Amino acid sequence: MKHLLSIEKSPRLALDEILALARTLKAEKTPHAGQPLTGQVWALIFSKPSTRTRVSFEVGIRQLGGQVLFLNANEIQLGRGEPIKDTARVLGRMVQGVVIRTFAQRDIEDFAGYSGIPVINALTDEEHPCQILADILTFEEKRGPIPGKVVTFVGDGACNVCLSWIFAAAKFGFELRIASPREFQPPADILARPGAKIICTDDCREAARGADLLYTDVWVSMGKETETADRLRVLAPYQLNAALVQCANPGALIMHCLPAYRGKEIDEATLEANAETIFDQAENRLHAQKGVLDWITR
Ligand code: CP
Ligand code: NVA
Repeated sequence: MKHLLSIEKSPRLALDEILALARTLKAEKTPHAGQPLTGQVWALIFSKPSTRTRVSFEVGIRQLGGQVLFLNANEIQLGRGEPIKDTARVLGRMVQGVVIRTFAQRDIEDFAGYSGIPVINALTDEEHPCQILADILTFEEKRGPIPGKVVTFVGDGACNVCLSWIFAAAKFGFELRIASPREFQPPADILARPGAKIICTDDCREAARGADLLYTDVWVSMGKETETADRLRVLAPYQLNAALVQCANPGALIMHCLPAYRGKEIDEATLEANAETIFDQAENRLHAQKGVLDWITR
């Protein structure tokens, strides 16, 4: 049984297969000839809001021939305390696959263990693997193979998106630089894992120097709202703006997973100057999800 639960636990070969399928599906002008999800119903169980991930999975599942059931976690018994393992065993008898957005990584791993059907991580507090696949797809379309390149993440270095970048650096062989204030740097044990060239600093300009990709994410991730005032104050010097872009390589890509909070992690002018890249990146969520779905049902 195949799952996509994290970048960390996914073999490089599987990630390469997903990216190759995504490229093929994107290039097809007509609906996918094979329609690999024909006759299948997939459920989306979301405990947090979503625009891109929800729409790209709903559209992608339909384009691949399947039907989709969106379940707000608060509107099923899960939200009233029914255990994950019971929800998983019920859904496993009724649908053919599940896409889950939630808080604890452990919950999607438990769901995968109990359900007997493919499970895809649509974001947890610890990883956002589908985002990073779309990001790599976008970078490589515009700048060629990512191995050997320099990727700089600026902002909340302990967030799910940055953690997935860390695991991707080890798998794909690019240099990752993380510029974050000390309290928002990734856990030391994750940085210490072998296999990746990762530099973590509190100096944005140093991290941006020579970068081929400058990347940021929101300062207040979903579930961290009570920390908003503190985060906005501490992260204020870590904005992606023209001064920082000047430090990167000429022609460096500027990317943002979105949603963007202008005037916070990125300024209006920098976002709009790079809108074509950033919205190509958003579009690639659809193509990457279809690559994941095609791969997982093979
Ligand atoms: N980037 C991303 O996952 O966006 P959504 O929260 O809108 O799905
Ligand atoms: N780090 C962000 C990503 C949003 C797509 C969050 O978890 O809210």
